Amino acid sequence: MRKNNPNSLVVAIDGPAGAGKSTIAKMVAAKLGLKYIDTGAMYRALTLKALTTGIDCDDAAGLMELLAQSKFEFPVANNVGSPAILLDGRDVSALIRLPEVSQKVSRVALVPEVRRELVRIQREQAAGGGIVMDGRDIGTVVLPEADVKIFLTASLEERARRRYIELQRKGLPATLEQIKKEIAERDKLDQERKDSPLQAASDAICIDTTGFSPEEIVTQIIHLCAERGER
Ligand code: CDP
Repeated sequence: MRKNNPNSLVVAIDGPAGAGKSTIAKMVAAKLGLKYIDTGAMYRALTLKALTTGIDCDDAAGLMELLAQSKFEFPVANNVGSPAILLDGRDVSALIRLPEVSQKVSRVALVPEVRRELVRIQREQAAGGGIVMDGRDIGTVVLPEADVKIFLTASLEERARRRYIELQRKGLPATLEQIKKEIAERDKLDQERKDSPLQAASDAICIDTTGFSPEEIVTQIIHLCAERGER
């Protein structure tokens, strides 16, 4: 952060699937008037494109070709409901949350070439500061100099329950058991991969969101940001 300029604050939020990252990061960004980047949406958008064009999720060369032809845009989130990402000019917010994408995305995220290119775009977006970015490797790899680093967790049961309610609201069929299994598999792939695995940065503040409302967590993070801004 540039001295005494809260508008240039850089906030990194990481954590496993369903910990509440996107909801909370978006609310924090809106409250502080900062830009919001959902990096998971980038991995998901590329996965969606691979699925619709018939590119295998392990095919590094094919994925890189797709990436070279893809345009990501991040509309300024004026309200919590605005789309997190446009892929080739199209709002794909709903499509990237489909279970088919969730099942494949961590395979795409294993490919080092893909990670390198997406991290480059993420850093470009963060240049100049004034940003809240969420993902798996933001505090450790993408923005290690972030002013505030948060690692959000919640029990597997709670995370699966949240995702279940979310899918039910959207009218998408799924059972709680299926979701629990999918989330546990994705966490394992994310934690065990060699390239930028999911882990808390040594200087991250860990917050367990189990049993707390998003508003309560947002208030806690805003406090941390204010403290950092005063230093
Ligand atoms: O919303 P949810 O927590 O389920 O996941 P997401 O943030 O949309 O991320 C989807 C997947 O993308 C993760 O499970 C990771 O495999 C991958 N990802 C990543 O590897 N690095 C990031 N910075 C963000 C997401």
